[in-house]
Amino acid sequence: MTDVVYLDGAYLPKAEARVSVDDRGFLLADGVYEVTPAYRGSFFRLDRHMDRLARGLRELRIDFDLDPVPEIHGRLLEENGLTGDEVSIVYLQVTRGVAPRTHAFPPGPVAPTVYAFAGVYGRPSRERWERGYRAITVPDRRWGRVDIKSIALLPNVLAQQAAVDAGVKDALLVRDGIALEGSHNNVCFVFDGTVVTHPPTHEILHGVTREYVLELAREEGIPVEERAVQVEEIHAADEIFFTGTTTEVRPCVEVDGRPVADGSVGPVTRRLFGAFLEGVEEVARSAAGAATSG
Ligand code: PDD
Repeated sequence: MTDVVYLDGAYLPKAEARVSVDDRGFLLADGVYEVTPAYRGSFFRLDRHMDRLARGLRELRIDFDLDPVPEIHGRLLEENGLTGDEVSIVYLQVTRGVAPRTHAFPPGPVAPTVYAFAGVYGRPSRERWERGYRAITVPDRRWGRVDIKSIALLPNVLAQQAAVDAGVKDALLVRDGIALEGSHNNVCFVFDGTVVTHPPTHEILHGVTREYVLELAREEGIPVEERAVQVEEIHAADEIFFTGTTTEVRPCVEVDGRPVADGSVGPVTRRLFGAFLEGVEEVARSAAGAATSG
């Protein structure tokens, strides 16, 4: 299978894609990105991902029209033979473009650099999922606007490497005594049957999966509370799970070496993952139906 990527209007083999060393993404991490999932070729909540990207671009004053982006996403799946895969993803990043290095924006108009690639998300087996995963807490050393999906991810990189070094799956970021989110996913806690997660402020990324899982919880009649969770509360949680595009709903059964409740995956997490799988399967099915009837 060829590895076809999109770069500034062209589809080409990844090995042939070239970006200038003067690109402000390369020099200054001056750009934003999105990762959007597709289930058997149907994008899930692409509009939400585009809305978040549009907001980030606006906040950073990068002028880029997102109209062609959904088509780019579809074509990348097709070019890479991923339309039949259970879960695939498209990564898209937009930087402020190529200009001699200055901290402030380039004085004249500059075309943004737009790069996208497609890949596969390998969902773990149900047996593996049922065993749950471990996490460690890590200090959150990110900037103050993490609601913008900036490509400047060094603190996230270091946090996730700390998790890898500790032999665990997730890094739970803690700032001022509050457990905010993971290095690349959001986190939910279950206390007495209520799903509790940080409100969507400047201190977390407003995850599309997080929003969907909270909707599912409400539909299932599970109470939801959006509030800050103190790090001391973590060990009193009945359940913990992470959510994200490349996480889906991932049960966390141990934090910093201490089991979450009895150390097994809890009923709320299991119920929400079941509802999540039904929801994404429905998206894949209805798109397939529309394709055959259309
Ligand atoms: N990460 N929080 C952070 C810090 C993230 O980077 C992400 C996504 C999320 C979850 O957002 P969503 O549910 O919309 O995927 C939360 C992507 C997948 C990444 O960096 O690869």
